[in-house]
Amino acid sequence: MNDFTPNPFKLNPKSAFGKTPTKSSKTPTAIWAVGGGKGGIGKSFISTSIAICLTRMGKSVTLVDLDLGSANLHTCLGMKIPSQTLSDFFSGRATNLSEVSTATEIPGLHFISGFNDALNVADLDPNNKQRLIEGLRTLQTQYVILDLGAGTSENTLDFFLAADQKIIAVTPEPTSIENAYRFMKSSFYRKLRTAESELGIQGLIETAMDSKNKLGIKSPADLIRYISQKDPQVGERLKEKIGDFHMHLLLNQVRTREDIELGESMKSVCRKYFGIESDFLGYIDHDNAVWQSLRKRRPLVIEYPYSSIVGQFLGITKNLLNPTPLRAVI
Ligand SMILES: Nc1ncnc2c1ncn2[C@@H]1O[C@H](COP(=O)(O)OP(=O)(O)O)[C@@H](O)[C@H]1O
Ligand SMILES: [Mg+2]
Repeated sequence: MNDFTPNPFKLNPKSAFGKTPTKSSKTPTAIWAVGGGKGGIGKSFISTSIAICLTRMGKSVTLVDLDLGSANLHTCLGMKIPSQTLSDFFSGRATNLSEVSTATEIPGLHFISGFNDALNVADLDPNNKQRLIEGLRTLQTQYVILDLGAGTSENTLDFFLAADQKIIAVTPEPTSIENAYRFMKSSFYRKLRTAESELGIQGLIETAMDSKNKLGIKSPADLIRYISQKDPQVGERLKEKIGDFHMHLLLNQVRTREDIELGESMKSVCRKYFGIESDFLGYIDHDNAVWQSLRKRRPLVIEYPYSSIVGQFLGITKNLLNPTPLRAVI
């Protein structure tokens, strides 16, 4: 990458923003989550970059590291581990989430570290998970960006489902694509589970998740069709429940034109398989500048603010701020 433009953040960070924006108490905090099932595909890089792009658009943002056990967002931000982390919140040493939120050098950006060698996200108890999700909504910030860990543990899925904008990061590699679909499917079924007893469909989701089930249900869309045929009223209520389940696909580490086409083809698979619309947010090139900036412990958006990759992130962030309305298609 060639980028010799002077960096406004380096020269005078405050001048790029003026006054740091604050949230009005009437506006609810919006939560965006970056998931994708697989490790090493760029979720932390994407979360950091989107968070900084939002601050460049004048928004106040809190970036939260929910990859408990492997938390490394502080490194992506070029910071030391803050003195207060989510461990203090979970142990009760901090009663309020804002007590573990640290201001960064980037105006408008706060950071909540998940650093805790002893805690895995799967071990988080339900009470603390609930406290955390409720706490996120009350933070004095306009946007909360959740950087999720790999895997499909129930807690990771619940954080993903708690978000208003659900971003699936995927790279053009078979393993990443496979994990992305698995993550989408698991979160979709997890979402359906919340309505299971209310709709009287207990056991059906468990059955559907078994790929060799005798009902011939091969996909979430099949399950919804099956329920609708059995009882159209329950089917309608179920569709209402999942009406807000939308995902945004983000392709990272793109090298060729064929790579980019994957975004549209995944979108149509989602349509057929889940019976829901997702959208292709956009793509980020594979670029050596990513590891170069990481090695310098400088976020790429700060190090190369006028680069094409930052342009791609700004476009993606704008799309997220004005998402196209999506609907169920079954
Ligand atoms: N667009 C990209 N181009 C080049 N390298 C990338 C890109 N995105 C991520 N990487 C590299 O991939 C690695 C994993 O990124 P990371 O954000 O830690 O992934 P995850 O959070 O999904 O585990 C890092 O070394 C990072 O530098
Ligand atoms: Mg990560």
